[in-house]
Amino acid sequence: MSGVVVYPGVLSGRVALPGDKSVSQRVAMLASLACGTSEVTGYLDGEDAQSTLAAMVALGALVERKPDGVICITGVGGALRVPSEPLDLGNSGTGTRLLAGLLAGAGVRATVVGDASLSRRPMGRIEKPLALMGADLQLTGERGTLPMVIAGGDLKGIRYEMPMASAQVKSCVLLAGLFAEGETTVVEPRPTRDHTEKLFEMFGIPVRVEGRCVSVMGCGAAGPVFAGRAVRVPGDFSSAAFWLVAAAAREGAVIEMEGVGLNPRRTALLDVLKRMGADVDVVPEVVMGDPVGRLRVRGAVLRGTVIEGDEIPNLIDELPILAVAGALAMGETVIRDAAELRVKESDRIAEMVKHLRSFGVSVDEFEDGMRVQGGAVLKTPAGPLLSEGDHRIAMSMAILNTFADGALRLDEVGCVDTSYPSFWKDLVSLGGRVDR
Ligand code: S3P
Repeated sequence: MSGVVVYPGVLSGRVALPGDKSVSQRVAMLASLACGTSEVTGYLDGEDAQSTLAAMVALGALVERKPDGVICITGVGGALRVPSEPLDLGNSGTGTRLLAGLLAGAGVRATVVGDASLSRRPMGRIEKPLALMGADLQLTGERGTLPMVIAGGDLKGIRYEMPMASAQVKSCVLLAGLFAEGETTVVEPRPTRDHTEKLFEMFGIPVRVEGRCVSVMGCGAAGPVFAGRAVRVPGDFSSAAFWLVAAAAREGAVIEMEGVGLNPRRTALLDVLKRMGADVDVVPEVVMGDPVGRLRVRGAVLRGTVIEGDEIPNLIDELPILAVAGALAMGETVIRDAAELRVKESDRIAEMVKHLRSFGVSVDEFEDGMRVQGGAVLKTPAGPLLSEGDHRIAMSMAILNTFADGALRLDEVGCVDTSYPSFWKDLVSLGGRVDR
């Protein structure tokens, strides 16, 4: 799908969320490495999760899709196969960086490629620690970018102090560490999402967390031996974020979602929205693994806030929609310490600043964030707005326009399918109007 037209309107009702993208991709990798079959419920049907799964099939895993949406992944018991073709990870930074760790550890020679957006993203951040472990990883793109050729094996454990807060880098090093000689420790500058650690525990792979240090004991080149198991992937909090903001900022609106993943390293947006005056109820549901719950948000008058420091990694993917919340709030919203946004699927600081201004919002751009002046009367821009191939920018702009005054043409929205293929359908089911 290349373009849509989104109209203003109140969004209210219930949404069934897609599966969590980060969890789905990690489950695909661990289940593929395991001995035996893992039955996975709620696996994300988005392109990023599917490209990761396809890569694991090329590496030897077997995947069976049941009619009820459950997928059965039968693992290779540690012995990944050398793929016959380059592995195409599409738009997925998580798939690429985590898989690089796995392949380097397992000593599987492979080439990894991706789409235009992924081919611009920095991969030097994983090359450095993997090289310290003894892996041979070549970034053949122009500026430390894809295509990447991996030929690893015989790694040694390291202690790695990460220069940036990145769950992808942490997970890459930990996955490689499973195949190393000796212990591997990653030290985080700020705590980031811990799905890898949680899933290691769930699959019975020992992992030690002490403050900002996460350690695994290497099992040598043969890698860890563990069994497949049943896994339920929770609803994606980052997808819920669009509806949370859509309802929170609109008096009279109510949106409810069930089965939402509530891992505390993912939900800082809830704290920020509450600080802004949002009316959000969280009812925990009892399931195994990550905490999950029901969210109900009712519209209220929001006020601006400051978002910085340790909060940033725990809402990193929600910052585009949070900037939208800032535009809808009274007063100023300031985002700092978020320079990582510049190397996401697009330069999300530059994109959000440009797009918010096109709606008449006053925004100051900083190297590591922005200041959004809330409360402006939103004017739908006349020309088409481009997503720059970034799903979260496209969805954030669609939500913003539901608060504006005209029909917005959004182009290049195919990227939404990477994380939330039913987004447009859900927008309509909540009362929104979209022409395709
Ligand atoms: C992710 C970690 C984050 C996040 C990305 C998914 C993950 O990236 O932005 O969408 O699944 O580990 P960084 O770890 O690079 O910040």
